[in-house]
Amino acid sequence: MNAVRRLKQIHSIADFRERARRTLPRMVFDYVDGGSGTESTLRENMAAFERIRLVSAAPVDVSRRSLAITLFGREFPLPLIVAPLGLASSFWAKGELALARGAARHGIPWVLSNNASVMLDEAMAAGEGPKWFQLYVPPNREATKTWARLAREAGFEALQITVDTAVPSRRLRDMRHGFAMPFAWTPAKLFDVATHPDWTRRMRPYGIPRPQLMFHVPWGPEGAPLEMRARLSPALDWDLIRWFRDEWTAPLMVKGLSDPRQAEAALDAGVDAIVVSNHGGRQLDGAVATIDILPEFVAEVGGKLPILIDSGFRTGTDVVKALALGATAVQVGRAAAYAVATAGEEGVAHALSILRAEIDATMALCGVTKINDLNARLVRRRGGEP
Ligand SMILES: Cc1cc2nc3c(=O)[nH]c(=O)nc-3n(C[C@H](O)[C@H](O)[C@H](O)COP(=O)(O)O)c2cc1C
Repeated sequence: MNAVRRLKQIHSIADFRERARRTLPRMVFDYVDGGSGTESTLRENMAAFERIRLVSAAPVDVSRRSLAITLFGREFPLPLIVAPLGLASSFWAKGELALARGAARHGIPWVLSNNASVMLDEAMAAGEGPKWFQLYVPPNREATKTWARLAREAGFEALQITVDTAVPSRRLRDMRHGFAMPFAWTPAKLFDVATHPDWTRRMRPYGIPRPQLMFHVPWGPEGAPLEMRARLSPALDWDLIRWFRDEWTAPLMVKGLSDPRQAEAALDAGVDAIVVSNHGGRQLDGAVATIDILPEFVAEVGGKLPILIDSGFRTGTDVVKALALGATAVQVGRAAAYAVATAGEEGVAHALSILRAEIDATMALCGVTKINDLNARLVRRRGGEP
């Protein structure tokens, strides 16, 4: 059955995950699905949602509803953003562009990672939707300047600086498969690819996906190593964020905060929003679930900045819980990755339709007609305490 026809049988992000598990070579699925270390944060991100329960205000007239939000002075039809996903071209041929087009069909922002396999002009031409850029800050200041300039010239509407990757984490699934840059074939990898013929057929014309965009901007002296470690600055701090504030006049965000005490520094640095994130459990193993720490951020920020959040969101109900606790919007990572791996642009559009339907049903059943009316009164910790 072809990938798009199969979508009729997909009714949840969990269904998409199962489909991606079957379609992708094991090394690619594990790159998407896995976390760092013992994967305790990966599990905790999802377990935390189970502990949060909703309280419906029914009966309320909910016959007219809207899921629209306002962010950076602009209205978006859904409280969702497609998170930056490095190497998305390994999930689907030119996967970044499929993500962009799928997000554009819902009018929501899509974030291009600088760890991408497509060029900036291709990315800008993919769909009519809002396009944001995410940067892994390289160790070299010249390269950092070049990235900021290229992103500005390309016309990205906003910039996310990822701050939770001072060093690469230990992702054991990737280590066991030898899924690393520079990519080297082994008999096990060849077998893996050969036993996933749908993926292999789709990818064959494009060759092995490489982070072409990163290679485009030198991140160190000629001949600097290809490993991710060499492309991340371990020296990234608030001074550098302030430098970006001077360079970048459009909306600027820091992605990867998990300590609410950093909120004050973010306000001082003049960023336009923060993204509370533990990188989907892919960086600091043992990190707190973002949904658990969100209320502390909300208290620290006191409404002075929009708070975006990601990590572990798999259903519209998860999204409603975060909005009720004070987030402005939710970034989805793996939910979009499983979908693009299943059916490219159509898959992403379908996944976002599923999330939209789930958010809408959850809000209606809670007796809420607009996002701004979601609040912490709708939420209880399991066991009943507020
Ligand atoms: C396959 C994959 C690749 C990712 N690549 C990037 C990246 O290039 N830059 C970045 O800031 N975050 C990256 N992330 C993290 C996501 O942007 C996001 O923080 C995370 O996926 C959210 O958690 P979730 O997957 O549970 O939704 C990646 C995540 C995944 C799953």
